[in-house]
Amino acid sequence: MARKPRIQTPTGMHDILPKDQPYYRKVYDVTDEIARFYGFERIDTPVVENFELYERGTGVSTDIVEKQMFTLKTRGGDNLALRPEFTPGITRSYIEHGMHNLPQPVKLYTYGQLFRYEHPQAGRFRQFSQFDFEVFGEESPAIDAQMIQIFYAILSGLKFKNLIIKINSIGDSQCRPYYRKVLSAFLKSNQHVLCADCRRRMKQNPLRVLDCKEEKCQRIRSQAPQMIDHLNDECKRHFKSVLEFLDETELPYHLDPYLVRGLDYYTKTVFEIFTEKSEDEETGSQSALVGGGRYDSLMKQLGGRDIPGLGAAAGVERIVSEMKERGDVMDVSQPRVFLAQLGDLPKKKSLKLMEELRKADIDVGESLGRDSLRVQLGRANRMRVDLALILGQKEALEGNIVIRTMSTGKQDTVKLEKVAAEIKKRLKRK
Ligand code: HAM
Repeated sequence: MARKPRIQTPTGMHDILPKDQPYYRKVYDVTDEIARFYGFERIDTPVVENFELYERGTGVSTDIVEKQMFTLKTRGGDNLALRPEFTPGITRSYIEHGMHNLPQPVKLYTYGQLFRYEHPQAGRFRQFSQFDFEVFGEESPAIDAQMIQIFYAILSGLKFKNLIIKINSIGDSQCRPYYRKVLSAFLKSNQHVLCADCRRRMKQNPLRVLDCKEEKCQRIRSQAPQMIDHLNDECKRHFKSVLEFLDETELPYHLDPYLVRGLDYYTKTVFEIFTEKSEDEETGSQSALVGGGRYDSLMKQLGGRDIPGLGAAAGVERIVSEMKERGDVMDVSQPRVFLAQLGDLPKKKSLKLMEELRKADIDVGESLGRDSLRVQLGRANRMRVDLALILGQKEALEGNIVIRTMSTGKQDTVKLEKVAAEIKKRLKRK
């Protein structure tokens, strides 16, 4: 009979196998540690939200909402979407739970899976993970600089070197409309050289043209008017202040007048963090490890109060891939003790003994499904344990167990109830 075709992971999605888990664990451990230090509390929002949240939050003219949403209609007729980013969901949660009643600022962080219908390629998937930090109710430019500092600290904690921070201000609803006009006029006079996508973007959201990776569009971009020359006094003051705070932190940053970010909600500060390597790739901003910025109008746009917000997120797969590429070796704690059993009664007693050793905080490897002592000790050898416990029929009947020192082959019989204490003593001696 012909074999049925194998079912594989959907395009752009992947398994995180046991061998890769330690990298992810490490990323989340460092994230947790820095979040705690800087006073961020963990929040988890649903993986699906109402589609409208992203239409109104992320923005209808963004690539994410226009082309990359995984949407679904429930049997009850609700239009839902798999979350493509965290920021709108966390902002919704702040509004829904009346977090404006809490002492401000409210600092929240999360990590988890996101979904974007992308063209899969290196570092770009349809299911991926981010860690994400958001601050609500804080206008001070100090917090813009601190957000950058936090992401820099996490990446440094993960041993990233040669990080590059790109920063810009994209103004606010007061000064950006005029800049859009100036930019539109410039683009219009050059539209014959723009790519087809940019000719379309030009009408919907001209700022996005500055984001285009096509060489011909980038050439035009270098002559385009810059937002920074059109900021109003308040945005100028804010940006100057952010840069002054950044100078104090001594973090290496570059002003990038064409950094606009692909999401509609940003106001004032926007930034991205790259490694030298990721910046060199021709994909440009697609390979940023971190992206973020201020979004002072998002809360109001989603029906909440006029409360400012600021945040950033990092792509975990991109981080893990660089950690693996540079050859980071993860310390996976291996048990130093192995339990081998021989016969029916010992096998039965082994289950209880394993629990007792766990409660005594001793990591133990085992191969309970195996009967042959030779096979079990072979496994213990491969695991490079220090001690093997051998529970045979005679020992089980007499309430004893054999402890074998793997390096010397020396064996001693001890009382079962004393085995945990004896193991601890011997491991300490090593
Ligand atoms: P974003 O720039 O869309 O921003 O994503 C942030 C980071 O997520 C990127 O720099 C990249 O490392 C990673 N990333 C994005 N898309 C993919 C993908 N398809 N595959 C793999 N990694 C990806 C946001 O998501 C904003 N919500 C950030 C933010 C938080 N702004 C304010 N608060």
